[in-house]
Amino acid sequence: MGNDKARKNPEDLRSHRWYGVQDMRSFGHRSRTAQMGYHRSDYAGKPVISIINTWSDINPCHSHFKQRVEEVKRGVWQAGGFPVEMPAISLSEPFQKPTTMLYRNLLAMEAEELLRSYPADGAVLMGGCDKTTPALIMGAISMNLPAIFVPAGPMLRGNWNGVTLGSGSDTWKYWADLRAGKITQSDWQGVEDGIARSAGHCMTMGTASTMTSAAEALGLTLPGAASIPASDSRHGQMAALSGRRIVDMVWEDLKPGDILTSRSFDNAVTTVLSLSGSTNAIVHLIAMARRVGVDLTIDRFDELARRVPVLANMRPSGKYLMEDFYYAGGLRALLVKLGDLIDGGELTVNGRTLGENIAGAEVFNDDVIRARDKPLVERDGLAVLRGNLAPDGAVIKPPAAETRLHRHTGRAVVFATYNDMAKRIDDPALDIDETCVIVLQNAGPHGAPGMPEWGQLPIPKKLLEKGVRDMVRISDARMSGTSYGACVLHVTPEAAVGGPLALVRDGDMIELDVPARKLNMLISDAELASRKAAWVPPPAKFERGYGLLYLKHVSQADKGCDFDFLETPSDRAPTPEPEIH
Ligand code: FES
Repeated sequence: MGNDKARKNPEDLRSHRWYGVQDMRSFGHRSRTAQMGYHRSDYAGKPVISIINTWSDINPCHSHFKQRVEEVKRGVWQAGGFPVEMPAISLSEPFQKPTTMLYRNLLAMEAEELLRSYPADGAVLMGGCDKTTPALIMGAISMNLPAIFVPAGPMLRGNWNGVTLGSGSDTWKYWADLRAGKITQSDWQGVEDGIARSAGHCMTMGTASTMTSAAEALGLTLPGAASIPASDSRHGQMAALSGRRIVDMVWEDLKPGDILTSRSFDNAVTTVLSLSGSTNAIVHLIAMARRVGVDLTIDRFDELARRVPVLANMRPSGKYLMEDFYYAGGLRALLVKLGDLIDGGELTVNGRTLGENIAGAEVFNDDVIRARDKPLVERDGLAVLRGNLAPDGAVIKPPAAETRLHRHTGRAVVFATYNDMAKRIDDPALDIDETCVIVLQNAGPHGAPGMPEWGQLPIPKKLLEKGVRDMVRISDARMSGTSYGACVLHVTPEAAVGGPLALVRDGDMIELDVPARKLNMLISDAELASRKAAWVPPPAKFERGYGLLYLKHVSQADKGCDFDFLETPSDRAPTPEPEIH
C-alpha cells in the first residue's frame, strides 16, 4: 500500500491563505511575523509546521522537550519548512488531579483547534506521558492534516543501592513492603531519590511505553522512535529527522486518514498484547479508532489476545525495562518476531510500509525480546470479561495476576467511594480475609469523575502483614500500566450511571473465571432488579465549566471515553474544514 497523491504546490498549502495572498488580513499576518524577526523569505511558499509541544515545568516526563523542540525545528528548517511551536496543555501524570484522564479530551480538542485555527500545513506532535499520546493523536486525526508523532522516550533505569528500580511497579512494591514493616523510612527515601533519575516517561511497560509503541505500530512515528531512551543522543536525532520528514509529508499530502485503517489498529492491538501493555491502551485505542471511523471494540482485543503471545519480558509482567528493550533491538525487532501476526502492508509516516520499516531488525537479547516458541506468556495477555456484573464488559490483565486467582469465587467487601475505601481499608476491625473480593464503586468516567487509575485497590494492612500480595479486586476505574494484581477494571456500565456494580453489597458472592471470560455476582435476577429499582444516582460532580461538558458528553469505557460529539461515525466522512477568511 502506498501514497500515490500528486505533490502539492505552494498555492495549495493551507497557510497560503494566511501568507500568500494579497489582502489586508494577510498584510497583518506577514507584518506580525516580521515583528518576530522573520524575513518573508523564511516562510514564503514553505509549509508551516505546527509543533504541538506538551512541555511544562510540571511535567518531568517532558522536561527534555525544550531541547527536543529545537531539534525538531532544525529538521523543519533543513527540509524547507517554517516551524512554529505551539504549546498545549501538558497532562502530567504524577501531578494532575483527580486524573489526567479527565483532561485527555481537552488536550485532544486543543490540538485539533490549534491546527484548525492557525496557519498549520502539518503537525509534529510532541508527547509521551500517558494521556498526551492518545490526546494529541486523537486531535490530529480529527483535523486530518499531515502529522508525525515524536514520542518522549522512556527515562533511564531507576537505581537504589545497586537495585534496579522500575517506575510505578517498584513504588507499589516498596510501599507494600514499608506498610508491612519490611523496609525502613530511610530505605523508602532512597527509593524515592533513585526511581526517576533522568528525563523521559515511565520506563516500565506502563501506559506511556504502551501508547508510544502503539503509535509506532500504527505508523505514526519514524521507525524505531518509540523505544529510544529520552536521554540517548539518538533521541535528538530522531526528533530532527521527524522535523525533516513532516515537511515532505505536507508536500505529499500524507495524512492520518491515509495511514490509519482497521488493519493498522489490529497491528497496534497486537503490539500492545505482545508487550503485555497497559490496559489503558484499550480505552485509548478505541477512542483513537472511533475518531477515524474504525469500529474497534473491546471484543477485538479479546479475539487477538487469544492468539498473540507476550514476547516482551518487561515489567510489570516480566523482568526488564525500556532501556533494556532498546538495547535488545526495540520495537522493530519485536514486530519482526511477531511475523505473520503483523500486517506489514500498512502505510506509515515515512511513506513506506510497516513491513519495509522493520525489515532486517534483529534481536540482541532473546531473554528481553522472546522468540514465538519461547514466549513469556503464550496467549491471553488481556481478557475481556462479561456477566451480570459487567454486561458491557470489563478487563483484566491475567499475566499481572497470581494464577491461582484466575478462577476465584469470594465474598464481596464493598466500598462506595475511594474516600470510603481509604478510610476503612486498614481498619483492623474490617471483616475481610484473603479469599474475599474487594469492590470499589463510583470510580468510573462519571463516578470519580474521570476514571482515575485507582483500580489496583490496596490490600488491607493486616493481610499484607500476613504475606498476602494479591487478591481479586473489582472496580470501574482504570489501572496504571505499571500496576499489577488480580484487578478487574473498566467494569461497564459504571456504577455512577446505574451499572450492576452499583448494586453489589457486602457479602454477595462474586465469581471470576478468566478462562471462561466470566464475571458474575451470584444473586438472582429478581434480587438484582429490586436493588436496581431502589438505586439512587450519586450527586453530579460538576455544575459548570469543563467538568459539566465532560459529564454531559463522555462515553463509557467500552467506547473509549471520548466525547460523543468528537467521534467520527464509520458511515460518515469527517466534517470538512470551514472556509478560512
Ligand atoms: Fe509520565 Fe509515567 S508519569 S509517563
